[in-house]
Amino acid sequence: MGTRRIADILKNGQPDESLTIQGWVRTKRELKGFTFVEVNDGSSLANLQVVLNSDLPNYEEVLKQINTGTSIEIEGILVASQGKGQRIELKASSVTVYGEADPETYPLQKKRHSFEFLRTIAHLRARTNTIGAVVRVRNACAMAIHKFFQDRGFLWIHSPIITASDCEGAGELFTVTSLDLKNVLKTDKGEVDYTQDFFGKPAYLTVSGQLQAEVMAMAFQNVYTFGPTFRAENSNTSRHLAEFWMVEPEMAFCDIEGDRNLAEEFLKYIFKYVLDTCPEDIEFFNKWVDKTVLKTADNIINNEFERITYTEAVALLEKADKKFEFPVEWGVDLQSEHERYLAEELFKKPVIVTHYPKKIKAFYMRLNDDDKTVAAMDVLVPKVGEIIGGSQREERLDVLEKRIQELNLDAEALWWYLDLRRYGTVPHAGFGLGFERVIQFMTGMGNIRDVIPFPRTPLNADF
Ligand code: 4AD
Ligand code: MG
Repeated sequence: MGTRRIADILKNGQPDESLTIQGWVRTKRELKGFTFVEVNDGSSLANLQVVLNSDLPNYEEVLKQINTGTSIEIEGILVASQGKGQRIELKASSVTVYGEADPETYPLQKKRHSFEFLRTIAHLRARTNTIGAVVRVRNACAMAIHKFFQDRGFLWIHSPIITASDCEGAGELFTVTSLDLKNVLKTDKGEVDYTQDFFGKPAYLTVSGQLQAEVMAMAFQNVYTFGPTFRAENSNTSRHLAEFWMVEPEMAFCDIEGDRNLAEEFLKYIFKYVLDTCPEDIEFFNKWVDKTVLKTADNIINNEFERITYTEAVALLEKADKKFEFPVEWGVDLQSEHERYLAEELFKKPVIVTHYPKKIKAFYMRLNDDDKTVAAMDVLVPKVGEIIGGSQREERLDVLEKRIQELNLDAEALWWYLDLRRYGTVPHAGFGLGFERVIQFMTGMGNIRDVIPFPRTPLNADF
């Protein structure tokens, strides 16, 4: 007779089994002579129903202590449930209360709380149905990502969190410093004297592990990173975080075509894996959060993604009988409203857009023969917009050097990156998947702050 997890009991438990559970009380319902207690231990969306009979020695005492939020251990025997809604329930023979939760002050009471409110109690919201389901889906999706790549022989590499380079060149960097901010040393020119800083030069939290992934792909062929990335973009949207997790595969001997195929195969795989692993959680989202969740998953898994070029995308947007807040013309970056129009309204499925103008993309993307566009690839999906950004990389030393010059980047600082083109260069490609965006897409959750346990956004680093 050991301690068992509730998910396991609900699935495999048989009448007459003796066992112990530990968890937190969700609700209590007192009837004449006995009380029903719903207990949750985080292993599943569903609670285990426990029956406390009034002949328990400490019945009156524990009944007072048992409220929503109370932590509890129950020993008992499984019985077939008489009531509707559950196959099996636990008849308690002994109850231990670990910690009470005062019903006057415990913020999570038995009612629907808004996601906005739950964000203000991020230390408790993991005990709710929705956030509990999000955390389980995140876990399953992380496993799916590792399994997808490991099964295909990709090595998981650990790119640094602290870096001196701005991979995306968008200047959205958080500085890492050990300088005394009350007394910053300045150079003769009046600039911060970074030679006195910890690394002897400016250092930042990484915005992407791609440059280091490229290094590793030049030794191991196929690699991926999966870790936290940071962007100091001051955008208060439902799709941006200052700290988010990114998955970045990088493949040597691969072009944009191979990249695009991998992205599609990858998304299909992780959707299917999560559906198979967390069916109850996904059904919960489909029922309570967004009624299109299951349909969306089916659409991803079973339909081919649309493939268009940026130039085609712009033509379609110009033709659209829809007024956009940001007007479109060839050369402008696509805004979220444009991305969503294409994926959500026009094609009603994921769209892979390639051949973006070089002017709106990062320095490392491979220049196409037209000298105007690069071998970039974005995957756009309904509701979320851009979920994947990737490209074939510029593997030609002279072309890359010219790009770096054009963009006024510091070629000296990128000496090691250029070396990869000097010694044994090969065509290579990769992409970055925003982990929280894919969780949003899978669960239908409207705000990215509710698919990461502890969101970091402008003016918010609590918990
Ligand atoms: O398109 P991005 O900026 O691409 C890169 O960083 C490349 N280095 C990736 C690569 O080729 N290895 O970012 C990739 C993805 C986006 O498509 C989006 O899903 C997500 O990262 N993302 C964010 N997610 C949440 N909050 C933010 N502020 C994000 N910025 C990007
Ligand atoms: Mg992008």
